[in-house]
Amino acid sequence: MLYQTDFLVIGSGIAGLSFALAAANCGTVAIITKKEQAESNTNYAQGGIASVVAPTDSFDSHIEDTLKAGAGLCHRDAVQLLVQEGPRRVQELVRFGVEFTRNPQNQFDLGREGGHSQNRIVHARDFTGKMVENTLLEATRMHPNIQIFENYIAIDLLTEHHLGAEIESQTDFYTCWGAYVLNEEKRDIHRFLAKATILATGGGGQVYLHTTNPSIATGDGVAMAYRAGAVIANMEFIQFHPTTLFHPSANSFLISEAVRGFGGLLRTQKGERFMPRYHELAELAPRDIVARAIDSELKKSGDEYVLLDVTHLDAKQLRERFPRIYEQCLKFNFDITREPIPVVPAAHYACGGVVTNLNGQTTIRGLYACGEVAHTGVHGANRLASNSLLEALVFAYQVYGHSVEYIKNFSIQFPEIPSWNDEGTFNHEEWVLVSHDKAEIQELMWDYVGIVRSNLRLERARRRVELIANEIEQFYKKTKVTASLIELRNLASVAQLIITSALQRTESRGLHYTTDYPQCDDKNWQRDTLIVSGKNEKQRFLNSYPDIDW
Ligand code: FAD
Ligand code: SIN
Repeated sequence: MLYQTDFLVIGSGIAGLSFALAAANCGTVAIITKKEQAESNTNYAQGGIASVVAPTDSFDSHIEDTLKAGAGLCHRDAVQLLVQEGPRRVQELVRFGVEFTRNPQNQFDLGREGGHSQNRIVHARDFTGKMVENTLLEATRMHPNIQIFENYIAIDLLTEHHLGAEIESQTDFYTCWGAYVLNEEKRDIHRFLAKATILATGGGGQVYLHTTNPSIATGDGVAMAYRAGAVIANMEFIQFHPTTLFHPSANSFLISEAVRGFGGLLRTQKGERFMPRYHELAELAPRDIVARAIDSELKKSGDEYVLLDVTHLDAKQLRERFPRIYEQCLKFNFDITREPIPVVPAAHYACGGVVTNLNGQTTIRGLYACGEVAHTGVHGANRLASNSLLEALVFAYQVYGHSVEYIKNFSIQFPEIPSWNDEGTFNHEEWVLVSHDKAEIQELMWDYVGIVRSNLRLERARRRVELIANEIEQFYKKTKVTASLIELRNLASVAQLIITSALQRTESRGLHYTTDYPQCDDKNWQRDTLIVSGKNEKQRFLNSYPDIDW
């Protein structure tokens, strides 16, 4: 089947939905999403959205905190935009109907999280993401210009690659005309043609064995963009959240940083508070420092977890402020008001991704990216807590501003895009290989490309993942595509991108810590690590962004 639309949005988290709601007033929007509409990282966000809304706060202070957490790699212009546009975008959520928690004076109840010098986290108790996701989905469903395709998974972006044309003889840029998409229920593959395509596919936490991310987070957007020839940056900066519930059935359930902002203390199993030994902000140090401190305490003691202690805080207030965490822990027989919570770090967020400029344009014409999939430059080497939902809101709006003008002036004829060709493929019987490969990648990444790295470990991971990725590619070529095969192929690509970036960085900075180069080397300054698939892409990219000091 062939669909045609003005805007194709891939992903229905905060980035995709907020873009769609803005753009739908200027054209038709098709949102494709690979599971149920609400299933996204957004839906699980707890802490909230960082934004300067208090009279005692200032843009300069939020900018300063963001730059500090980013350890020298943030792009200042992107950070300024993020912070200054933030309050407008938060107000827009309120207009859509998001009910943020308020104090008795009807002002936002502002939480505190690691790395922030002020209370500035706007939240809906500890289910901010669910509240935002449901509200945006409701508005989306009511908009006559928006159509949502649930259980549709994008396989690949449509570019010159699919025309059989000689890429090198084209203009300076590739062009994206939409995507090949699998309707999972019917197992049909459709062509979605669009004047502008917006990647809003979120992160790729599933590449690690332990992650706070739900199963949809398989890095599809980064992998598709990379295959299409887009420039990818800073994939080594994977953020590990310090505190997830330690329990074999808890699926790395997140214990929000807001719990530490509320007064929670980290202790060893012997009861010793250890964070003051690592940083002046103790439990509220930036996330990379807290996660590494826990890792180091666990290695020293041989214990499996540390403790997050809130038993000294008011039980009623705790239950009111963190109802979801309280309930979830209770399910696993931990009453957080009475006993400390066993916690461990888990993979949480990808700071790098598909390179964009301030308008969310990627290096492929007609292809935009926003939200976790994008590398806008705001996070640098380590994202400041609760800046992610904010980034998604602000940059989705930037994409809207630019793409609406782009489609107005759209003069390119859609080329004849061939239907999906699955000649020579068949329904393979060895499906068990898919789950084995996935588990193997996740374990390798956890063991060798985790919180503390070394060249030896990275090289070992590189060799092994390359072997698995090649096998997957062979299997993919002769097998009828399914969602799990698409995701596996993407996970393997993302693992390779992370390892390649990590090997490129010969220093420890922010989230990338390696025992071979333990110093953050500000003399031999290493900027963003760029990865490109096409041989001329990097030069094309540098030519097209001459004003950025890469
Ligand atoms: P997502 O919300 O992940 O949405 C991605 C969408 O793309 C999904 O609908 C998915 O199904 C779809 N998709 C993916 N691949 C395909 C494909 N191939 N085809 C079709 N559809 C596809 N950040 C904060 O700022 N504050 C917080 O308090 C906070 N808490 C968090 C708590 C948890 C447990 C987690 C996991 C993350 C948290 N984060 C938080 C991070 C933040 O939630 C995410 O970075 C953000 O929600 C990403 O939004 P997004 O729209 O880019 O992607
Ligand atoms: C949390 O609530 O701790 C997550 C916040 C974030 O990822 O920014």
